[in-house]
Amino acid sequence: MHNKPTSAIAHPNIALIKYWGKRNKALNLPATHSLSITLNTLVTTTSVSFLEDLSADQVNVEHQPADVNFSQRVSTCLSQFRTLSNTRLFAKVDTSNNFPTAAGLASSASGFAALVTAANAALGSPLDTRMLALLARQASGSAGRSLFGGYAIQHRGETNNGSDSFAEQLWPAKHWPLEVVIAITSTAKKRIGSSAGMLHCAKTSPYWGNWVEQSDTDISSAKAAIEARDFAALADISEASCLAMHAVMQASRPWLLYWNAATVELIHAVRSMRGAGLAVFFTIDAGPQLKAVCLPEDAAAVEAQLTSVAGVKRTIRCQLGTGARVTS
Ligand code: PMV
Repeated sequence: MHNKPTSAIAHPNIALIKYWGKRNKALNLPATHSLSITLNTLVTTTSVSFLEDLSADQVNVEHQPADVNFSQRVSTCLSQFRTLSNTRLFAKVDTSNNFPTAAGLASSASGFAALVTAANAALGSPLDTRMLALLARQASGSAGRSLFGGYAIQHRGETNNGSDSFAEQLWPAKHWPLEVVIAITSTAKKRIGSSAGMLHCAKTSPYWGNWVEQSDTDISSAKAAIEARDFAALADISEASCLAMHAVMQASRPWLLYWNAATVELIHAVRSMRGAGLAVFFTIDAGPQLKAVCLPEDAAAVEAQLTSVAGVKRTIRCQLGTGARVTS
């Protein structure tokens, strides 16, 4: 059981109600609730084997040794498995993405969702889904959501030890099969990762308190809109949550801006498409890509128009996807 590589895949998720901030840095507990949709098309594949002859974890990304920071995050996560499942073995981990990493496409979410799923299977599945969601969240705040397909929530939780700060599915994709067109405007790695950005905002942004307070109301509004399949309501609340998060970033000192000129052009393009009757809204994470969420019947028109916006390098069209799963 310990030496056969076990592979799992996971898809990135895109938050409609954003997670930005930590209520406990050491345990990586979120300061806000968040609600996301999991995509198909983009895939992380991770294989894990626990081996007798290793003296440390070995982590490869795209078949190359991973940088120290990422290796350390993976090892910290694997150490939890070692403790919980009583093994002392180190692991060989190979992970690859079919999309650019660390560029605002949620590669850490799919990466850690695939890692916990593969590691658990490699050890004979000692942990249940709730525990996997807690471990994934501890590694990357948005990763618990990628364990689930369709619509997922990451609860902020109230307890000090984070036991109630887990992700779970709210609705499967078939409840309301929205589509997403991602407009890629740059594939450069971001200069400030999300954890550093969050801590900086919590310390210096004058809007911090309001942002955290607003989370309860926003999550309830988004749930009601999805339950009722009310596109206009979901568009309003999602764009508001996204722009509030970016306002918090932009008001921090020194300011933090993840957008480029094309991101701003795209925001205007989405607004004018909606004005012209297309069912589309935008969301943007800690990077310069814009994600246009739309009804399936409008996805082709939305993609055609986004492609023609100055500065857009390519577009990727996704449906809602499934949760993380073991593949071999
Ligand atoms: O999971 P992290 O640490 O990469 O943070 C993700 C933060 C955002 O993508 C900006 C928002 C979100 O909820 O996914």
